[in-house]
Amino acid sequence: MEQQPLLEANGLTKRYEDGALAVNNVSFSVRPGEIYAMLGGNGAGKTTTINLFLNFLEPTSGEARIAGIASHADPLAAKKHVAFVSENVMLYTNFTAVQNLAYFVRLGGRTGYTTEDYRRVLLRVGLQEEAHHKKLKGFSKGMRQKCGIAIAILKDAPAILLDEPTSGLDPKSGYEFMQLLGSLRDEGKAILMSTHDIFRAKESADTIGIMRQGNLVMQQSRAALSGEDLERLYMEHMAGVTE
Ligand SMILES: Nc1ncnc2c1ncn2[C@@H]1O[C@H](COP(=O)(O)OP(=O)(O)O)[C@@H](O)[C@H]1O
Ligand SMILES: [Mg+2]
Repeated sequence: MEQQPLLEANGLTKRYEDGALAVNNVSFSVRPGEIYAMLGGNGAGKTTTINLFLNFLEPTSGEARIAGIASHADPLAAKKHVAFVSENVMLYTNFTAVQNLAYFVRLGGRTGYTTEDYRRVLLRVGLQEEAHHKKLKGFSKGMRQKCGIAIAILKDAPAILLDEPTSGLDPKSGYEFMQLLGSLRDEGKAILMSTHDIFRAKESADTIGIMRQGNLVMQQSRAALSGEDLERLYMEHMAGVTE
């Protein structure tokens, strides 16, 4: 039996006040146990799409649904079902990793986690134990990203949105991050991530959508893409060559 999508864009459209059409009639869905990678260059509309799901922006028309709830109609109810990891994780640099976890988990309305829970989740995301009680000040981008995903895991939402999660990570950290996303997918999370990294998208996504100038110009499952040269397809779509 096919599961209901947890994330769904239906004719999603956003025209900014200055007239720029950032997202144009985009439709796609992400089911439990699926990683959907939105691929595209700068200005393609990826961040705008994610911000529409989070109701940071209101759609001009169409809708973004989380667990069946339209984000602009009932943002609080919709956002209960999703955790968000931004490109530059906003955490307190004067707090330790564990203090950040405790703070943001409480802010998200969760209680009942123990110090041992924090230790376990930080180890799961690959933050070495010596760093757990250090202030974030001295952390690399990769280490901060690990704290961000740890907070997302503790929110225990069925869907996870990530905007360029691996940009600025070195190859090893990027690889480990995608392994972690894979294990969350295997637990049944619905994962939507934006990226401009074809290699990571091809490696780990179940479905790849290519965005160009606000349009979803291609969407394929990994199975359909096997044997295809994704890099060539991407370049063709970027150049506006479509069959
Ligand atoms: N706040 C804004 N006001 C006006 N235009 C914007 C705003 N944010 C983004 N845009 C424009 O919308 C388009 C899509 O941007 P964005 O969603 O950030 O793309 P991406 O994340 O794929 O790089 C771009 O043309 C960008 O210049
Ligand atoms: Mg962006």
